[in-house]
Amino acid sequence: MNLALINIRQLVTVPSHGHRAKLRRGMLDLGIIENGAVLVKDDTITWVGRMEDLGIAGLEEVDVVDCIDNVVMPGFVDAHTHLVFSGARENEFAMRSAGATYAEIAAKGGGILNTVQQVRASSKKDLKKQARQYLNALMRHGTTTVEIKSGYGLTNADEIKMLEVINELKIEEVIGIVATFLGAHAYPPEYAGKKSDYVAEIMDKMLPYIASHRLAEFCDVFCEKGFFEAGDTEKILACGKELGLQPKVHAEELNASGGSLVAASLGAASADHLEHITPDGIKAMANAGVVGVLLPGVSFFLNHQYAPAREMIDAGVPVAIASDFNPGSCMSYSMPMMMTIACTHMKMSPEEAITASTLNAAAAINRSVEVGSIETGKKADIVVLKIPDYKFLPYHFGENHVEKVIKDGVVLEF
Ligand code: NIG
Ligand code: FE
Repeated sequence: MNLALINIRQLVTVPSHGHRAKLRRGMLDLGIIENGAVLVKDDTITWVGRMEDLGIAGLEEVDVVDCIDNVVMPGFVDAHTHLVFSGARENEFAMRSAGATYAEIAAKGGGILNTVQQVRASSKKDLKKQARQYLNALMRHGTTTVEIKSGYGLTNADEIKMLEVINELKIEEVIGIVATFLGAHAYPPEYAGKKSDYVAEIMDKMLPYIASHRLAEFCDVFCEKGFFEAGDTEKILACGKELGLQPKVHAEELNASGGSLVAASLGAASADHLEHITPDGIKAMANAGVVGVLLPGVSFFLNHQYAPAREMIDAGVPVAIASDFNPGSCMSYSMPMMMTIACTHMKMSPEEAITASTLNAAAAINRSVEVGSIETGKKADIVVLKIPDYKFLPYHFGENHVEKVIKDGVVLEF
């Protein structure tokens, strides 16, 4: 199918200039074209430019979308979610608003382990049913590619069940899905007092099966005091890497635990969270080109410290933002909401927040050759917004400005 987006009031292309991600002041360059146009053939962008340079010959053969009142930008890439889960944790939310902390709730068997119990008791069919509703909602909010982690099973069978669900959704649903194995999300209760046995189970049993069945592209570890120490994080990620799974790390969320240094030493695709990252960690990530995936919604929702986005951008770390959508630390999948928080609480500019949600987010999941910008040859993953200027996206918050989403060249209207 051929498609033409014409008369675009403001086209935000986020040009990659041939790089996998944007750094420093490069993050400010949104490649804006006023009165622009985009041509699409099948699932691929074939032309991007100004209306006045667009030959109208041949346009009668195509589906035309008039964007005279719209800002058009790349579909958002949410590079960090825990979208497959069962039930919810609104009671913990209420406990936190009464003063309990996330760590206190987790130490009493709530938190991640609460969701683990519910996921273990759920069938694949039930997990898929709930996940599908969320995936549709993500698309309605402009997200066209999403990374989803396992990590609420914590047994070989239940982790495989979660990854099979993620892989089946990847085939069945329109949205682009990337699977990550997070067996090292928490120690399961049956391994109390024998943590090293669970690390061995991950390395000897789970990872070989997952790698040989191609159930995940990435391997992630929650590196944190009370969860997985830096030494075990390194062992698990190195084992995964040898089997072909690229490392990612939940690093420095509640304490400086050294996860960012592990990520840099292993050449991880990304280190995520980073609320407590140290200057050493920032330097190591910049040198190794590890994408820093910041999760503004978590700091907002848990009322935590925010990651030092400015220091990281200024030091040359490729910075992305993601939702971390999960029932505990961020019950939101709205990327525009994450952009608002990044601007209001992390001193990021609207331009940086948009780059961090598109091209740099695609880099965090090794997809920036295909998606994350509106450029000839890239996949036609595009969002059409009912706003007069891109700055309205983070500025006018709490409202869904998405009018249409184009995924792989197909127009979805809301
Ligand atoms: O990224 N930090 C660890 N994992 C998730 C929270 C998952 C949960 O609370 O269920 C996170 O914040
Ligand atoms: Fe997470």
